[in-house]
Amino acid sequence: MPATPTIPGLFVVRHPLVQHKLALLRDRSTPTKIFKELVEEVAMLMAYEATAEMELESHGVITPLETTTGERVAGKKAVLVPILRAGLGMVEGVLRLIPSARVGHIGLYRDHDTLQPIDYYFKVPGDAAEREFFVLDPMLATGGSAVAAITKLKLAGATRIRFLCIVAAPEGARRLREAHPDVPVITAALDRELNASGYILPGLGDAGDRLFGTR
Ligand code: PRP
Ligand code: URA
Repeated sequence: MPATPTIPGLFVVRHPLVQHKLALLRDRSTPTKIFKELVEEVAMLMAYEATAEMELESHGVITPLETTTGERVAGKKAVLVPILRAGLGMVEGVLRLIPSARVGHIGLYRDHDTLQPIDYYFKVPGDAAEREFFVLDPMLATGGSAVAAITKLKLAGATRIRFLCIVAAPEGARRLREAHPDVPVITAALDRELNASGYILPGLGDAGDRLFGTR
């Protein structure tokens, strides 16, 4: 997966199935049930790309015919960390590929007027330094929530972190890469811009509201 030339460290998943499902997510007429299923499916396909560099270790395997060498993912179980609420919609999709992953949670919401992230919950495994983290949030808009979430994870000891989103605004992607240059950002789309209210254009609207049927 090549990095986006304009924003090093940002990777856009251009797989045809991801792009097809993304267009359905953008469609305002897509109902909540389908929207939720699509977020899971896109998250699963993105996780395939985002895990391409996971470390492997060799181990012995006894087949019905002989002994051979197999590979398994090395180290402690990975940790998925959805940013509440909308990140929750990506968890099941990623778990379909990494079923043994642990799941932490970071509670953050964006103040509607200031667009500043307000945090209200944080729980990840205690041995954070030994694990690989996948932070999940469909939307990277101003970047405030992602930067705050990753800062908290690092304070908890995490050193190996990837950020998975579905739609990124250039402003947020740049801000996140500047604040955390060690954290690769994997997205299905790099959109045009933010509007005056901090919504991504063309975007897909309020991801949390569309996932959970609130407004
Ligand atoms: C949305 C989204 C991100 C954040 C992105 O959450 O899921 O967490 O906004 O915006 P930012 O990049 O400008 O910080 P929201 O704050 O609406 O909370 P919710 O998921 O609970 O609805
Ligand atoms: N949060 C969303 O859910 N959508 C946006 O466009 C921006 C922030």
